[in-house]
Amino acid sequence: MEIIETQNAFVEIGNIADSSLQSIVTNYQKIAVLVDENTKILLPKITPLLAPKHISIIEIKSGEQEKKLKTCELVWEQLITQNFNRNDLLINLGGGVITDLGGFVASTYKRGIDFINIPTSLLSMVDAAVGGKTGINFLNIKNNIGLFIEPKGVFCDHTMLVTLPKEELISGIGEVLKHGILFDQKYWNYCSNTPLSQWDWNYIIKKSIQLKNTIVNIDPFEQNERKKLNFGHTIGHAIESYFMNSPSQLLHGEAVAIGIICESYIAHIQHKIDAITLTEITSTILSIFKHQQLPTDHQQLIAIMLQDKKNETSEINFTLIEAIGKSSINHTATTDTIVDALTYYSSLN
Ligand code: GLY
Repeated sequence: MEIIETQNAFVEIGNIADSSLQSIVTNYQKIAVLVDENTKILLPKITPLLAPKHISIIEIKSGEQEKKLKTCELVWEQLITQNFNRNDLLINLGGGVITDLGGFVASTYKRGIDFINIPTSLLSMVDAAVGGKTGINFLNIKNNIGLFIEPKGVFCDHTMLVTLPKEELISGIGEVLKHGILFDQKYWNYCSNTPLSQWDWNYIIKKSIQLKNTIVNIDPFEQNERKKLNFGHTIGHAIESYFMNSPSQLLHGEAVAIGIICESYIAHIQHKIDAITLTEITSTILSIFKHQQLPTDHQQLIAIMLQDKKNETSEINFTLIEAIGKSSINHTATTDTIVDALTYYSSLN
């Protein structure tokens, strides 16, 4: 079992049956497990570890469109109906929607009950479940309502990825590549030179969480250094939000992968990285992610970027890279450059 200490808690990586989950739950009276229609299949991996406690299962529909206030109401209602109080525990068993929404629901229920994250997707293992960001989408803007609050613990067991659909696994790779590009050239080289079928998931999960955790420990509330983790997300979130209510929805990591290419292009145009680095990033991403058709209405994407919660002035805020493994925060770009970046991506088809 690998244990990574976070600010106020810990992440355990390895077989969940050998983890400290079983002893931690003895501290609570009642336990609810939040699942969706896809992750409930993994309940038999954890319910034996929670016995002899009485367990309530709360099931919601799966998908990013469910990460909304209405779903929170359904979960709060069930907690109230079952008389959950401040000594009780919510376990979030699922991907990023479950861990983000479940963390938000738990930390606002009766002014906050403890929660534990058991991420079941690569994306939630390497990013969403770790670092204390919780929240929901509101008025079509990603994670517009939420709070920073750490779970009591996070348990990552890569065997849970076996049932994950291939496109969901690929989506998580967007965040993995982001960590390599931002912080660690050796990690990037491993990811870009190792065929996907040979990736060592234990190594990937551990490395990504370590890299993210180092930054979160320095700046838990995203005042400065943590903004680096938003690389690829200014444009990525706008694209994801644009498609949120359309039939051709993009998964989060798919949108981030596009954002990484576009924001690397901006770094190149601003003379921060050379053409070879841009090409290396672009070709690695396109060897893993299918090229997507972007909307031609670039102005609408820019309007969404202007709503980004990272903006501190009326300008759009970017984290840009200066080399593989080196980045800096609080850059801006002209509208023309952003449009050129989107056009660059579209031309790669
Ligand atoms: N997903 C970026 C962060 O946790 O800051």
